[in-house]
Amino acid sequence: MSMREKIEEAASRYPDQRSAIMPALLIAQKERGHLPGAVLEEVADILGVERIWVYELATFYTLFHTEPVGIFHLQLCDNISCMLRRSEDLLRHLEEVLGIKKGGTTPDGLFTLSTVECLGACEMAPVMQVGDDYHGDLDIAQIDALLDRLRTTMRQATGAGLAAAGPPGE
Ligand code: FES
Repeated sequence: MSMREKIEEAASRYPDQRSAIMPALLIAQKERGHLPGAVLEEVADILGVERIWVYELATFYTLFHTEPVGIFHLQLCDNISCMLRRSEDLLRHLEEVLGIKKGGTTPDGLFTLSTVECLGACEMAPVMQVGDDYHGDLDIAQIDALLDRLRTTMRQATGAGLAAAGPPGE
């Protein structure tokens, strides 16, 4: 099924096509990897809605990416609960071990590092989302172990010829 067909099918469940923008963007991002301007225009055209509405949603929510992201998108919460539990230290450590700044992607395309607003999991602060998975009560040792696990996952997926299918949880 093409991206257009998937979006049309999802949109058929909504009486107002504006309500279908979020699910349409999720479909488009899954299909295309990220959401550059041309894809946003395509989504708007498929739904028959104003392009600015699509653009506004795509640029407001951190779950949408208008720029390419790495295979593993590390989204570290830096809101109040996580900040009080030293998320800044984790950010500095991630920047150091990955050799990138916040917002950057490693040269091998494996990791993108971002900070995000509250992930709604303050009880396990500090929290980082990777794909669909939340990792909480993090410290530097756990961050290092997590990065090792993600690299191992990728090596195994590549070795098994599964890399094209994407990592688990994405
Ligand atoms: Fe980080 Fe709520 S402040 S999950």
